[in-house]
Amino acid sequence: MSNTIFAFGLGIGSQNKEGNWLEVFYSAPSLNVEKNTLDALLESTNYEGGNNTLVLDESDLNRLHMNLLKAGNIEQAELASRLKASTKPVILCVLATDEAPTNPAEVYLKLQLISHRLVKPHNTVLDGMFGLLINTAWTSEGPIDVRELAERQLSARMEGRTIEVFSVDKFPKMLNFIVPTGIRVGDAARVRLGAHLAEGTTVMHEGFVNFNAGTLGNSMVEGRISAGVVVGNGSDLGGGCSTMGTLSGGGNIVIAVGEKCLIGANAGIGIGLGDRCIVESGLYITAGSKVAVLDENNQVVSTVKARELSGQSDLLFRRNSATGAIECKTNKTAIELNEALHSHN
Ligand SMILES: CC(C)(COP(=O)(O)OP(=O)(O)OC[C@H]1O[C@@H](n2cnc3c(N)ncnc32)[C@H](O)[C@@H]1OP(=O)(O)O)[C@@H](O)C(=O)NCCC(=O)NCCS
Repeated sequence: MSNTIFAFGLGIGSQNKEGNWLEVFYSAPSLNVEKNTLDALLESTNYEGGNNTLVLDESDLNRLHMNLLKAGNIEQAELASRLKASTKPVILCVLATDEAPTNPAEVYLKLQLISHRLVKPHNTVLDGMFGLLINTAWTSEGPIDVRELAERQLSARMEGRTIEVFSVDKFPKMLNFIVPTGIRVGDAARVRLGAHLAEGTTVMHEGFVNFNAGTLGNSMVEGRISAGVVVGNGSDLGGGCSTMGTLSGGGNIVIAVGEKCLIGANAGIGIGLGDRCIVESGLYITAGSKVAVLDENNQVVSTVKARELSGQSDLLFRRNSATGAIECKTNKTAIELNEALHSHN
């Protein structure tokens, strides 16, 4: 057996009536776990190696507490001790290797590794995750299997309560699981679990960040970061702008935005951007769009498909307001982020 494992988490699970897992909350998921901690898991629980998910009882947690203390892993030892008081099932999910997930506990661990900034988007295998998750109502009374919701709503009403339903989805908003340091989010519902919000990110109310996607540094997000899209340090997404994902007919280009870019309000990109690029407000650049490349005197030097410019730096894209043609020029004015706007204190 290898000396280190990919990740593990001690979590609290929620189940439907049939005992299937709806979600698992890991307060402190761990990445690249050292041998000492791995030995503590092996000695304290029924974990015998590989990728495995177990429900722990109080004696497991007692042993885990003692052995993790001996292993010098104080944070996880204290968590194991704390979880003895949980009234909900306590789960140990161990991922010896980063394989495609096989159960909801593994999916939730991986999504939380990203949101805890332990793993960057695209750096863990999430293949097939949607098929493993149960469609769930995320409510004021916790997660409820959507097939059980009507009955629960009736029961609650009979007791004089209203169950507030926040969303019906395979997984919920990120901030109910982790609020990373140094961020602001105008509307929690707009950031999905599995988003990666770097220190210095502001997501305003119109902004949206999907799972396995997000920011790598300072960023003002007033547009949509689709699944898989990663935005570099110092780049801003203007109000209502769109970054094309690969999930529904968006093609197979995984969109990345480099550093210090500005995607204008209501603009959109179906190609990647390098560093210091600007897309004019309102312009949607799809990969196949024909783009006139202009020289310093605004003369057309060539016409190319936008995908040929994907990922290149120092470009300014605009739609010529007189001719309607999409044009690309050298961007001479790299944007400077407004310091006050990006302060998170
Ligand atoms: C594309 C953009 C960056 C251009 O701004 P700019 O570099 O300041 O350029 P200017 O508006 O000063 O225009 C420079 C010249 O280009 C011309 N021009 C600008 N946009 C043009 C267009 N779409 N078609 C034809 N000419 C255009 C101007 O008329 C001007 O011509 P001149 O030199 O003859 O006077 C800007 O229009 C834009 O869309 N910014 C995005 C802002 C935004 O959405 N922020 C997010 C808020 S939430």
